[in-house]
Amino acid sequence: MAELILGIETSCDETSAAVLSVSEGRPSLQSLVILSQDVHKVFGGVVPELASRAHLRTIAPVVDQALTEAGIGLADLSGVAVTAGPGLIGALLVGLMYGKTLAWRTGLPLIGVHHLEGHLFAPTLEDATLEPPFVALLVSGGHTMLLDVRAWGSYRLLGQTRDDAAGEAFDKVAALLGLGYPGGPSIERLAREGKPGRFKLPRPMLDATGADRFAFSFSGLKTAVLRAVQQSPDIDRDRADLARGFQDAALDVLVEKTARAAEELGHPTVVIGGGVACNRALADRMRIRLDGFARVAVASPRLNTDNAAMIAAAGAWHLARGERSGGNLEPMDNLPFPGLVTEADAEAVAP
Ligand code: KG4
Ligand code: ZN
Repeated sequence: MAELILGIETSCDETSAAVLSVSEGRPSLQSLVILSQDVHKVFGGVVPELASRAHLRTIAPVVDQALTEAGIGLADLSGVAVTAGPGLIGALLVGLMYGKTLAWRTGLPLIGVHHLEGHLFAPTLEDATLEPPFVALLVSGGHTMLLDVRAWGSYRLLGQTRDDAAGEAFDKVAALLGLGYPGGPSIERLAREGKPGRFKLPRPMLDATGADRFAFSFSGLKTAVLRAVQQSPDIDRDRADLARGFQDAALDVLVEKTARAAEELGHPTVVIGGGVACNRALADRMRIRLDGFARVAVASPRLNTDNAAMIAAAGAWHLARGERSGGNLEPMDNLPFPGLVTEADAEAVAP
């Protein structure tokens, strides 16, 4: 018998609900509704208070629509998975309370899901054969992490960003170039028209060694773009070339460090997840770099931007192991990644 899991995601500016059917561990997406909040565009970034209010208005119809599109009612569900963090606290609160109330009213098991673990599960929605071990590059608006995934639920942190997240760098550079929010898609579009190599920008930490070999930093790159913009005599002429220069620099570091991690660990697969994984050039370059060595798994853009299908997928895995969140589940803007071990933790438990 297939289990039907309702997923809910409201951590940032997408109100999303999905129904996932899981049979013998294999997920099959029954419906996915994603309502993007356009209200933030005029402000050039997400305004937390407006995000919470928009989630409040739309959460009920979005969940209803997901159930309708899947052709099921509440009584058919086997569990509810909801993003518990990290994210905007007010935004998280709306989805979490809705999911919690639904579970309480129906007696269904409830599981709180870590947003980034959701991103990690996204490619399984299109490729049910995807299994650890693999190296995962998680790149979103708030995080940049390189993980050694030995098994689902067992994650070793190889490195993360020291300052800006990769997506944040795309957004900030887009703002410097006078492009709209979110910046990633506009930079990618413009970079296609830009001349490679006209602007020589730094590849931060590319050749760092030791414990820093898998660490990232993007704020220096952003400052280099700022200087180039300030020194440009004609920004309309230079805009596309700068977008190209920035994207090439950012992707060089992301691709090279991920590939080196896969080679060092000998993992046959690399997973890229999070909003920045929507960038076609990132996936293309990763495939070229790892050709003949590792397979690169990337979900389609709809499943890489924030969505409830990935939350249902991660939640289904935890529910199948008998894990449950209690009625005391609360949203946490800095929720720890479940199962994540850092090098420092590993040293602390070593004899
Ligand atoms: O995962 P996500 O949808 O939300 C967070 O969890 O943060 O990621 C959003 C980030 C934004 O910074 C956005 O600019 C970036 O993903 N992004 C992209 C692209 N599409 C979205 N970055 C580079 N290229 C893209 N095509
Ligand atoms: Zn995300």
